[in-house]
Amino acid sequence: MLDYTNPNLLVDTATLEAGSTAWRSPSNLAIVKYWGKHGVQLPRNPSISFTLQSAFTETLVEYAPKTSTEEGIELEFLFHREPNEAFRAKVLKYLESLTDIFPFLRQLQLRVQSGNSFPHSAGIASSASSMSALALCLCTIEDTLFDTLGDDEAFERKASYIARLGSGSACRSIYGGLGLWGKTDLHEGSSDLYAVPFQEAHEIFQSYQDDILIVSRGEKAVSSRAGHALMEGNPYAPARYQQANARMQSLLDALRAGDLETFGQIAENEALTLHALMMASNPSYMLMQPNTLEMIYRIRAYRADTKHPVYFSLDAGPNIHLLYPQDIIHEVRPWVDAELAPLCEENAYLPDFVGEGPEEI
Ligand code: PMV
Repeated sequence: MLDYTNPNLLVDTATLEAGSTAWRSPSNLAIVKYWGKHGVQLPRNPSISFTLQSAFTETLVEYAPKTSTEEGIELEFLFHREPNEAFRAKVLKYLESLTDIFPFLRQLQLRVQSGNSFPHSAGIASSASSMSALALCLCTIEDTLFDTLGDDEAFERKASYIARLGSGSACRSIYGGLGLWGKTDLHEGSSDLYAVPFQEAHEIFQSYQDDILIVSRGEKAVSSRAGHALMEGNPYAPARYQQANARMQSLLDALRAGDLETFGQIAENEALTLHALMMASNPSYMLMQPNTLEMIYRIRAYRADTKHPVYFSLDAGPNIHLLYPQDIIHEVRPWVDAELAPLCEENAYLPDFVGEGPEEI
């Protein structure tokens, strides 16, 4: 069992120089969804996602030797340049949970600044981009101080593992293209502990379009954390986990073959299954809004009329992800502007696409 606990990762604070690291890390959109977990952020089923490009978090971590003798982690946290106590408390709790893996965190004074390219808590998986960006910064600090993660694969694997501990889906954002998380016989090297890149997809999926239609910028009424917890009492949960495994097989085949129709059918069904599970939870809840449904009807009608392979997905929120190959962008965009944008909050949508993964900045 992979164990990153390492009591040797301690610095000599008398000689340590201050430093900083910054990463831009994207959000991701799962096609087969992760919904339901156990143990320490372990998934109940394997999942696979597109790593996006335009929806990202940028995080800067500055560190210096701690001057106070206090035991705990010393953290200042700014979100979009403003102190944010709620986020600071979350990040502090996360960093404290990592002190067996990164014991040097207790020896440092940390100043973390973070910002998103999109509204947070609106179902654009802000936790995936923010937790992956922070995890990458932590691994870079480790590598700078101890020269332990020089090998790219070792670095990415650890960053993915650390990101997972912050938010399960974040572990897939470490890789460009597609990321697969969760042990499955269908993919060699897959693990519940970290994600791996899925590099066998047909080239049409390497540049796929994923426009995010913002139905609402508001905060979600029920967090993903609470949603995962509700799966434990959900009578449909065992069938769901079985279904996800079966779909993984069909989806991987479709991704390899460039089969847009099978891909799209699975993407839509997974999105609706996710929301059906929420509606069938006890207590029941619903994150889709009237305009989410209106868009779904319009997308399906457009597909039937034009035969264009335009499909949708949803994350744990009301916003629509519009999925289509880039070679039909000039036909699809005018229709999005005319028919879907008016259903978005302030006509806002974020044109996005499958991206290259995180970047050190
Ligand atoms: O990473 P979490 O705990 O916020 O869970 C997110 C789960 C979904 O976004 C709904 C699906 C997924 O696989 O990303």
